[in-house]
Amino acid sequence: MRRALPLLVLLTALGVGTALAGSDSYLGSFTFPADAAYAGSASCVECHEDAAAFYAGSPHAVDLGLAVPGTAVSGCEACHGPGSLHVTGGGDGFILGAADLGALDEDGKVAMCTQCHATTGDHWTGGPHQGSGVGCADCHADQAHFGGTALPAREFRNPAEFCLQCHTDQVADFRLPSRHRALEGQVVCGDCHDAHGGFAELDWNGQNSVCLRCHAELAGPFVFEHDGTTGEDCTSCHRPHGSSHDKLLVQDGNTLCLQCHFEAGFSGDGGWTLGGTAHDGILANEARCYDCHIDVHGSNVSPTFRNQ
Ligand code: HEC
Ligand code: HEC
Ligand code: HEC
Ligand code: HEC
Ligand code: HEC
Ligand code: HEC
Ligand code: HEC
Ligand code: HEC
Ligand code: HEC
Ligand code: HEC
Repeated sequence: MRRALPLLVLLTALGVGTALAGSDSYLGSFTFPADAAYAGSASCVECHEDAAAFYAGSPHAVDLGLAVPGTAVSGCEACHGPGSLHVTGGGDGFILGAADLGALDEDGKVAMCTQCHATTGDHWTGGPHQGSGVGCADCHADQAHFGGTALPAREFRNPAEFCLQCHTDQVADFRLPSRHRALEGQVVCGDCHDAHGGFAELDWNGQNSVCLRCHAELAGPFVFEHDGTTGEDCTSCHRPHGSSHDKLLVQDGNTLCLQCHFEAGFSGDGGWTLGGTAHDGILANEARCYDCHIDVHGSNVSPTFRNQ
């Protein structure tokens, strides 16, 4: 199964793969023996058939001749370092092995992948998973032969279940009576979050643009704007995942509106007056504010959002 390769001699004679990666790169953070050179992935798989078999049929397959862009550093050696001494030594010489790579911190593990996936790497910084201890291989166990903590996306019926295998605290919200139907596949987590991070709108910070991409009809402008929704976060009234109240509301009924609209006149004895209108009678049957003021996000016909 394992045999030493005369191929190496040829490769080094041609000068293939002898350039070391720059010092700011992933490999630049390691120290190598001065005489270690790059031998090429083809030489590795002569002895490590298991690793090669793992990648067969994937974009990381050895026979695709993968290299770190801009260098001649081959797929296997992109992570394991220059392997010529290891190859000539029949497996005894220098290689970055399990101990070296297993000791990498989160940033180091991510850098292993982003030396090739530079665009994903640019987005990663500031995203939801940077600093979480989760690295690329944890979500892409089908693309990395050293395993991850999570099952890859293709093991699940839908993308939400893939995310929820770790985010178990969120599962209950997506089963509430009012919810975004992620478990049913109507929306996916990625509509509002980017696992790779990056875009400002996906690194949720109260911007409404994520919501308005789908709920465009609520964006306005309206003839009669409601100052209670313009300039507010959607999430000040709605829970994005799910709620036990209708329409994903953070709380039911009139408290939602009265947190801004409460007036001194709105109290049993003095009558329930709001904006000069007595609401005594109209609130009698446990009506909610938005049963009447129906277009709470703004209206083109009614200054009091009553759609009439
Ligand atoms: C001549 C056969 C041979 C070739 C060629 C070879 N290896 Fe190895 N390799 C071995 C043997 C033998 C071991 C030690 C036993 C084991 O763990 O499988 C080993 C171990 C390793 C380890 C684990 C080291 C550790 O300490 O965890 C890595 C990583 C590795 N090889 C990578 C490579 C890479 C990358 C190449 C190509 C540049 C390569 N090998 C080429 C035979 C070979
Ligand atoms: C994206 C980085 C990366 C690439 C590409 C890569 N490896 Fe690895 N390899 C690792 C890491 C990380 C470990 C495991 C370290 C640990 O145990 O935590 C590992 C472990 C190994 C081991 C020792 C454990 C085992 O499975 O026997 C061998 C041998 C090995 N790799 C060979 C290869 C070969 C051959 C290739 C090319 C076909 C290759 N690797 C490509 C990162 C990589
Ligand atoms: C030596 C360069 C290189 C390294 C290192 C590398 N990749 Fe890739 N990877 C590629 C190329 C090239 C493709 C195919 C084009 C693309 O999708 O960008 C690819 C494709 C992928 C894909 C898409 C798979 C598919 O089926 O479409 C995933 C996921 C991926 N890589 C994850 C990783 C992860 C995770 C790591 C680190 C453990 C990693 N890659 C390390 C070069 C690399
Ligand atoms: C929290 C989980 C998670 C993490 C962490 C993660 N990814 Fe992904 N990645 C995904 C999902 C989900 C997809 C969508 C495709 C799929 O179904 O696998 C994806 C897709 C990809 C693809 C295919 C092309 C694309 O962009 O759609 C590449 C390449 C990739 N990821 C690389 C990486 C790299 C490199 C890292 C680390 C910097 C990383 N991923 C970290 C979940 C993750
Ligand atoms: C391998 C486990 C794992 C997978 C799979 C995973 N995550 Fe995470 N995620 C974490 C960890 C750990 C954190 C940081 C701790 C926390 O806040 O829960 C995190 C954080 C987050 C955060 C930020 C939470 C906050 O409090 O700010 C979001 C958003 C997120 N993940 C979304 C996703 C999405 C969307 C997916 C699917 C594409 C996904 N995650 C898949 C483990 C995972
Ligand atoms: C409709 C958009 C949307 C969808 C779909 C969505 N999220 Fe979120 N998610 C958000 C928003 C907005 C926040 C921030 C909540 C806040 O700050 O009040 C959030 C917060 C989170 C958090 C941080 C913890 C928390 O509850 O505040 C995690 C983790 C998370 N989402 C994971 C997921 C996962 C996993 C999925 C898919 C099953 C998903 N999200 C689907 C919009 C969404
Ligand atoms: C990917 C598209 C998409 C995004 C992004 C999105 N939604 Fe939705 N939303 C939907 C769909 C689809 C429904 C179900 C509509 C239906 O059944 O008529 C829905 C329903 C709702 C409902 C009504 C729920 C009910 O019980 O009737 C509210 C409220 C809502 N979304 C608020 C938000 C908020 C707030 C955001 C941003 C955090 C957001 N949506 C982002 C697609 C989206
Ligand atoms: C964040 C505070 C806030 C919340 C919450 C809020 N509003 Fe408003 N609302 C305002 C402001 C500010 C105005 C502008 C008129 C004013 O100064 O009273 C307004 C105006 C109105 C008007 C009358 C239009 C006018 O010009 O007088 C109605 C009716 C109304 N809101 C109903 C509601 C209903 C129903 C709810 C609950 C779904 C609600 N509001 C929640 C702040 C809020
Ligand atoms: C002041 C509180 C408030 C804010 C802020 C708010 N909403 Fe609402 N929203 C409501 C109420 C109350 C309902 C229920 C109306 C009903 O049942 O007739 C509702 C209903 C909805 C619905 C269900 C469909 C419909 O028109 O009835 C969607 C979708 C929705 N809101 C999206 C959003 C989005 C997106 C944002 C941010 C741009 C947002 N909301 C901001 C209070 C608010
Ligand atoms: C049964 C229907 C009904 C319900 C329920 C209701 N209102 Fe009204 N509201 C009205 C009517 C009718 C007016 C008079 C103005 C008009 O014709 O639109 C009014 C007027 C107002 C005004 C003054 C608008 C102006 O003229 O400047 C405010 C503010 C207001 N309501 C807020 C609320 C709030 C907050 C609630 C919940 C606590 C609520 N309303 C519940 C029907 C209702």
